[in-house]
Amino acid sequence: MASPLIAPSILSADFAKLGEEIAAVARPGETRADWVHVDVMDAHFVPNLTLGLPVVESILKSTDVPIDCHLMIDDPDRWAIGYAEAGAYNVTVHVEAAADPVMLAKNLRAAGAKAGLSIKPGTPLEPHLETLKHYDTLLVMSVEPGFGGQSFIADVLEKVRTARRLVDTGHLKLVVEIDGGINSDTIEQAAEAGVDCFVAGSAVYGAEDPGRAVAALREQAAR
Ligand code: DX5
Ligand code: ZN
Repeated sequence: MASPLIAPSILSADFAKLGEEIAAVARPGETRADWVHVDVMDAHFVPNLTLGLPVVESILKSTDVPIDCHLMIDDPDRWAIGYAEAGAYNVTVHVEAAADPVMLAKNLRAAGAKAGLSIKPGTPLEPHLETLKHYDTLLVMSVEPGFGGQSFIADVLEKVRTARRLVDTGHLKLVVEIDGGINSDTIEQAAEAGVDCFVAGSAVYGAEDPGRAVAALREQAAR
């Protein structure tokens, strides 16, 4: 498998100095993040509120690291396209929130972004396998979406294994991403189950040196 991708989540960064926080994981070398994960929450789909398109547009101007937008919002069919048009590398919507996920994926791709589909811990994957053919990434949530710093739910690794199998046998072409509770205690089991891209919020921005945390997680996932 290719080298593991690490995507620090700025949910755990200091929002008053977001530019510096992203720069800390954007320097060339092993401490550089592969993607920067941006959690958009609307206080409806999840019980928390973060940031929206104007902040993402500023982030996009401030860095050349690919931006991975995770939209935890209602009505992504209407709002997701704006993030793709703004230049986000990957735009992920929730399968529980999308009315027409296939059309949504087509629109995101037409706007130049990768299309991502996210699935909450309690949502089964099987009913959505056909839909996944239209997507570039599958974001398996390993905590209930809404907050950083929660404990990893290992049960979701079964969904990772299913997706991995379908990718490895050529039935799907997907980056398998995991989000929630990823740290030095949990990343190895996620890697073993077949994750390609690891989102880490508190494990990166709670560390003394976020760049070093990125390098350490990547090395651990590659073992
Ligand atoms: C939670 C977000 C995550 C969050 C992960 O709803 O989607 O991206 O930042 O934070 P940690 O890594 O601390 O669990
Ligand atoms: Zn996220």
